[in-house]
Amino acid sequence: MSVRSFDPSSMPTVAMVGGGQLARMTHQAAIALGQRLRVLAADLDDPAAQVTPDVVLGSHTDLAALRKVAIGSHALTFDHEHVPTEHLEALVAEGVNVQPPPQALVYAQDKLAMRRRLSELGVPVPAFAPVATVADAVAFGVEHEWRVVLKAVRGGYDGRGVWMPESEEVAAAIVKEQLEQGVSLLVEAKVDLRRELSAMVARSPFGQAATWPVVETVQRAGQCAVVIAPAPELSDDLATEAETLALNLARELGAVGAMAVELFETRDGALLVNELAMRPHNSGHWGMDGARTGQFEQHVRAVLDYPLGSTEPLAPVVVMANILGAPSAPEMSMDERLHHLFARLPEAKVHLYGKGERKDRKIGHVNVLGADVAVVREQAERAAHWMSHAIWTDGWDPHE
Ligand SMILES: Nc1ncnc2c1ncn2[C@@H]1O[C@H](COP(=O)(O)OP(=O)(O)OP(=O)(O)O)[C@@H](O)[C@H]1O
Ligand SMILES: [Mg+2]
Repeated sequence: MSVRSFDPSSMPTVAMVGGGQLARMTHQAAIALGQRLRVLAADLDDPAAQVTPDVVLGSHTDLAALRKVAIGSHALTFDHEHVPTEHLEALVAEGVNVQPPPQALVYAQDKLAMRRRLSELGVPVPAFAPVATVADAVAFGVEHEWRVVLKAVRGGYDGRGVWMPESEEVAAAIVKEQLEQGVSLLVEAKVDLRRELSAMVARSPFGQAATWPVVETVQRAGQCAVVIAPAPELSDDLATEAETLALNLARELGAVGAMAVELFETRDGALLVNELAMRPHNSGHWGMDGARTGQFEQHVRAVLDYPLGSTEPLAPVVVMANILGAPSAPEMSMDERLHHLFARLPEAKVHLYGKGERKDRKIGHVNVLGADVAVVREQAERAAHWMSHAIWTDGWDPHE
């Protein structure tokens, strides 16, 4: 019988709530640090549960399951923001090292609490109001000439929980339906945006913080499709403003780990905060190949209070394109698509999440590094589209 000579328990254990792709890629980073990630997953088939031997099966709304994954861990952290705040407070009271702490995480969970707190801090956000009745939404809609956005206060992601009604009738129907289902709502002004940016930062409990370059995020159908690092043609002043904002917010709110500040750049060159994510975020995936320290390693380092790594970019331009499920999965297998992609674009770095192909589902991403934004973006998008659809957007035929 052979005996393992390395005792994994001599290294810290990070427990992550949620078994999605963010946990899977955090696990990948933990491996390099001599650790494994323990995950709370709903299903053994979840992306992270497929790859870590340390899985607790259960729901993130079940305090007993949360306790089970937390006990013995050095830090408990998240791949999504849907854990009830009161459960996290209970865990903290029991001595669990919850990072980010619940009093910080709430600003990534509750969009109304976030809008209020940021307004108090003097951080620019779109005009907003809570919606307790149809009349609240209508009054705001009339005031803003129906350039408004309704949002679920909690639980939204990838554009689910976001509505853009353009009339009183449509708004009233949405509000009525959502309130009846027990969904709390807010309404805010629809921003006339030039584009969307993301400022990412990581912060440790000790208070060390490091930003990555500010990126441009391109959304399609309310969902992130492409990220360009750094954001093209962003003035030094605006880049500094965005990074400073992210650093200040991380400190003021007591965030720990990776945090994304989703920003709107308005047509007149101002920045408004859209929302916060206190975890690794889609806008940081480029850094897995494109930065000295990517967000997943940095998140683990931060929640364990290690010194943070250099966030220096490794190329003048890095583009990340999400591989989104096609309306129906192509006949060609994923494996065969990968062969063809590698044959055609050896520079493409591919990350697949082990997820089934469903329309618009994030099933992987491609990173390409280079020097020219247009060239790099075209390559990354062409590669991602190929992986989704088994079609080359430039008409190239692998069998010719
Ligand atoms: N006030 C606004 N004005 C203009 N566009 C907006 C506004 N709020 C949201 N959007 C658009 O809708 C998208 C999704 O909104 P938001 O980020 O609040 O939702 P989410 O579903 O929680 O986010 P995520 O896609 O990051 O999970 C934004 O990225 C933006 O494109
Ligand atoms: Mg968002």
